[in-house]
Amino acid sequence: MKKTLSLIAAAALVAGLLAGCGGGGSSDNAKKPLVWFNRQPSNSSTGELDMNALNFNDKTYYVGFDANQGAELQGQMVVEYLKSHGENLDRNGDGILGYVLAIGDIGHNDSIARTRGVRTALGTAVTENGAVNSAAVGTNLDGKATAVKDGSIQIGEKTYIVRELASQEMKSSAGATWDASTAGNAIGTWSSSFGEQIDVVVSNNDGMGMAMFNAWSQENKVPTFGYDANSDAVAAIANGYGGTISQHADVQAYLTLRVLRNALDGVDIDTGIGTPDEAGNVLSDKDFKYVASERSYYALNLAVTAENYQDFLDATKPYAPVAKALSSEKHETKKVWLNIYNAADNFLSATYQPLLQAYDDLLNLDVEYIGGDGQTESNITNRLGNPGLYDAYAINMVKTDNASSYTTLLS
Ligand code: BGC
Ligand code: CA
Repeated sequence: MKKTLSLIAAAALVAGLLAGCGGGGSSDNAKKPLVWFNRQPSNSSTGELDMNALNFNDKTYYVGFDANQGAELQGQMVVEYLKSHGENLDRNGDGILGYVLAIGDIGHNDSIARTRGVRTALGTAVTENGAVNSAAVGTNLDGKATAVKDGSIQIGEKTYIVRELASQEMKSSAGATWDASTAGNAIGTWSSSFGEQIDVVVSNNDGMGMAMFNAWSQENKVPTFGYDANSDAVAAIANGYGGTISQHADVQAYLTLRVLRNALDGVDIDTGIGTPDEAGNVLSDKDFKYVASERSYYALNLAVTAENYQDFLDATKPYAPVAKALSSEKHETKKVWLNIYNAADNFLSATYQPLLQAYDDLLNLDVEYIGGDGQTESNITNRLGNPGLYDAYAINMVKTDNASSYTTLLS
């Protein structure tokens, strides 16, 4: 009898070890720190937050940035540019300032906010049931589309009509969103049929913006605006790229790993964030805000234009106020599983991940980076076969509705 029991105990121990949970039962994973980042768990058609995912356990947070504040800034940046360069902008002299808009992902809150921010600032927004329509128009050369309307802008003595000539979700045939090569192709199609009418190019991000700039607008001297302040886009401001928005990826990448570090250390979650840690790392309220009811940290955005771009040339440098290493004695190395939804996403792969890789050393986190294909959740979740091997998780979903594809693996 005794022997049978100990055999059972041994078998249970082996099963526990195999599950990688040190014998504590598989639901241990459900209690580990979890951070969602860049894609906030939410309904992709209504934008409503998925509070179940955000409250998965008491160590769950979201890290992103203030999409509305950034989108407003992006719109203002474009308007300021038009006001200060207006006289030379109307390329065909028809009294219309025509722009085209590259939409990233019609179901992504950041993309929706940016489309709304640009349309609102340019006066082309149509409001329905209290919200600005963020749908793509296809082409709208005659100004009759219903998702937008013609705006107007006074520049010097003259009033110009502002028209969204075309907009499209930049989705590849395989399903990848925010797709730069799709945007490069779109500007090719648009410019060959109505290139003379395009006075401004606006994009929901720099990946798509730079593809359009390289394919057409640089050569044709048409100002192009993006978002993210990727290093290549910032450098292109010297060559005529109109401007971009920094979503303070240096602050976001820090917060992504810092909340995990704090939760793993069992210290106050504000440590090294709003409250200095023992190394002196601390952020200010100009850098971020925390909304407790949403369990969410939001970095604040900054406009990057010809006036200040020199300060933003290296997008992958850790932010000085939070770049001091933690002692490895007090903060022993922990293992983190982290995924990037699409290894080919310019912002996440060229800016965000290099920043994470700089901070993981400073915070003594041993992070395993998984790059997805941008199309299916299973391409990523298949590589979380053994969640028990990790102390914490950082997740960047393909679609904001899909949090449960991950949480079921941890439950
Ligand atoms: C970034 C985009 C990126 C997207 C991916 C956004 O916040 O601005 O560049 O493609 O996140 O989820
Ligand atoms: Ca014109």
